[in-house]
Amino acid sequence: MKFKKFDNHKILEDMYEKGFSSNHNFLEYKDSIKLNEEVNSIFEKKIYTVKESYQNDFWDFKLEKNTLGKIQTKLIGQSAFIDKLISNLLNNEQFANILDNLIGKNRKLSTLNIRRANSHTNYDGIHTDHVGMLSISILTNNHNRNSPTTCLIPKSHRSKLLIEDKVENIRTELFAPFYEPLTGKTGSLSFFYNKTWHGMKKGNEVGTAIIFSFIAEGYEIYNDKKMPQKTFYGKNFIDVFNDSFFNLLDLNKNIFKNKITRTNKNQIDTLPKKLLIINFYFYCIIFLSKTKKIIKNIINN
Ligand SMILES: [Fe+2]
Repeated sequence: MKFKKFDNHKILEDMYEKGFSSNHNFLEYKDSIKLNEEVNSIFEKKIYTVKESYQNDFWDFKLEKNTLGKIQTKLIGQSAFIDKLISNLLNNEQFANILDNLIGKNRKLSTLNIRRANSHTNYDGIHTDHVGMLSISILTNNHNRNSPTTCLIPKSHRSKLLIEDKVENIRTELFAPFYEPLTGKTGSLSFFYNKTWHGMKKGNEVGTAIIFSFIAEGYEIYNDKKMPQKTFYGKNFIDVFNDSFFNLLDLNKNIFKNKITRTNKNQIDTLPKKLLIINFYFYCIIFLSKTKKIIKNIINN
């Protein structure tokens, strides 16, 4: 399995400017076909259970349908091909370098899922998540403007307003003049900061995507799951993934339980820092121009 080169420069520029960078095709055609087949076989061979929430103490391979009608399951441990793809991607030097720049070196993996939506799935309202979080989406079937898919509002990551779930009840489609939907061919990969205002719009077709998220150093991770020893296809997890993967999950690979969750709040989020500096200069200029006027007035009087 060989990956095409990522356009580092474009990704970093998009992330800084818009808060997301979409539609990077990193897979060879034959691998994208295989990815589509493997994901379909996960969703077609299993029966889903309806759940109120995904919070679960155990790592299992079930399909779960939430209240919005999204069907979701664990990304890894399901298929040998997908595990190899994810392992290769996480170990890819260029990809790791992009992540170093976007979210820092000592990042941790927080969520690892595949989700499927169809014409019965409701919208997921525009919201923001964790400020120290970065997500990757990989479409596993072709998505067009009719597909239920993640939508992001460009530049909203620069807003000081973290809307969280405050406008989540408003139909996502009402934000259509402002958002960009994640569309593209199977294998299309996108990066987005979870503080960029985003949601999922409804659509008449089936949309399936891999979503995994990283948390920057200094933030607590809420990945709190015990991992089984064996994958769904019978191999041991430790034979499929390397040490750096278990470190990314903050798991102790010998007991498959989370290590102590980090509580150090020394965050490394460089973007707000840059904005703070810009704001600081801005206020300095305003302050200086105002004092100049006041001094001039005093002298003239
Ligand atoms: Fe979200």
